[in-house]
Amino acid sequence: EAAEKGGYEHFMLKEIHDQPKAVRDTFGTHISEDGKTAVFDELNWTADDVAAFNKILIVACGTAYHAGLVTKQYIESLARIPVSVEIASEYRYSNPLTDDKTLCIVISQSGETSDTLAALKEAKRLGAKSLAITNVVGSSISREADNTVYTWAGPEISVASTKAYTTQLVAGLLFAVYLGQLNGKMDAQLGMDILSGIKELPNLIHEIFEVDEDMKAFAKHYGFKSDAFFLGRAIDYAVAMEGALKLKEISYIHAEAYAGGELKHGTLALIEEGVPVIALATQEDVYDKMISNIREVKAREAIVIGIGMKGDDELSKHVDHTIYVPRANKFIAPILAVVPLQLLAYYAAITRGADVDKPRNLAKSVTVE
Ligand code: AGP
Repeated sequence: EAAEKGGYEHFMLKEIHDQPKAVRDTFGTHISEDGKTAVFDELNWTADDVAAFNKILIVACGTAYHAGLVTKQYIESLARIPVSVEIASEYRYSNPLTDDKTLCIVISQSGETSDTLAALKEAKRLGAKSLAITNVVGSSISREADNTVYTWAGPEISVASTKAYTTQLVAGLLFAVYLGQLNGKMDAQLGMDILSGIKELPNLIHEIFEVDEDMKAFAKHYGFKSDAFFLGRAIDYAVAMEGALKLKEISYIHAEAYAGGELKHGTLALIEEGVPVIALATQEDVYDKMISNIREVKAREAIVIGIGMKGDDELSKHVDHTIYVPRANKFIAPILAVVPLQLLAYYAAITRGADVDKPRNLAKSVTVE
């Protein structure tokens, strides 16, 4: 087992550090040699294939569901196709409005999650065309779906998903660019910028590992607080949800994610002196709004860790600690911003003496309902 951990103390830490390679392996053959086109030889769709569906449904559980929330924003922004994202266990019992003009995308690291598999079967029964994004070749979900796009994260042993999530985002983003190129709804230059941003990711993720010591220090400092809040807007809200899940599942700290604009609708009542708030501020379109949310929680004496992009000198004026990720296109940013959150959860679990790779009550793959 020590050899499998590659010198790291836990599988989770190894898998966090596997991400540059996992991401590289996942975009692998999906970018044309000239860097201009997203390529999916396993699909080989035409514009007519894309025109055959008028909506996309994404179903998944847990971290894969969070990847679905980001993928929705990718597809809606780049291909302008409406996307709904459903928790698989809810979808299957919801008498859904799926039909033969629906593309159903299921996302699953293991390809064996029973609710996701059942949701896929239900969507197919209702006539949907289906596409699986999974990490396990030959898994039940890949066999059930009409088409499969693989993430190439390699085996993920730790119950807490890390490299599966980042590779799901890469696959989702590439697929969104693919759709946008096929249906002509995406600005051509934007598509090329995103593809070159994806190619940069392995190096950029490496750079983020520099924050390791900071995250360790925050975890030591705040690891014994009973609650933590994650705030974000737009894509950052989806990343906040993933950060909160990671923290609660391995450190057992009660963590909640909120859309910045929702604070005033209830959550602000929970913010008091010393409560840690992790605020994501990587999305320029909503940056000013996020700063005002940070001010709202600071006014209640929360302790704020801001996650921003390098070169943003404003953020540090409003927060107690700032963590910078490399500056990147807004679609690439979530794939970077999640890495410090993974490290924070990891070190919080260590601080609290929790069993990082095998958190209580949880299994790696949920194959019974
Ligand atoms: C994430 O850290 C989890 N342990 C969990 O939410 C997981 O993502 C979920 O069970 C879905 O698994 P899957 O991707 O294998 O379908």
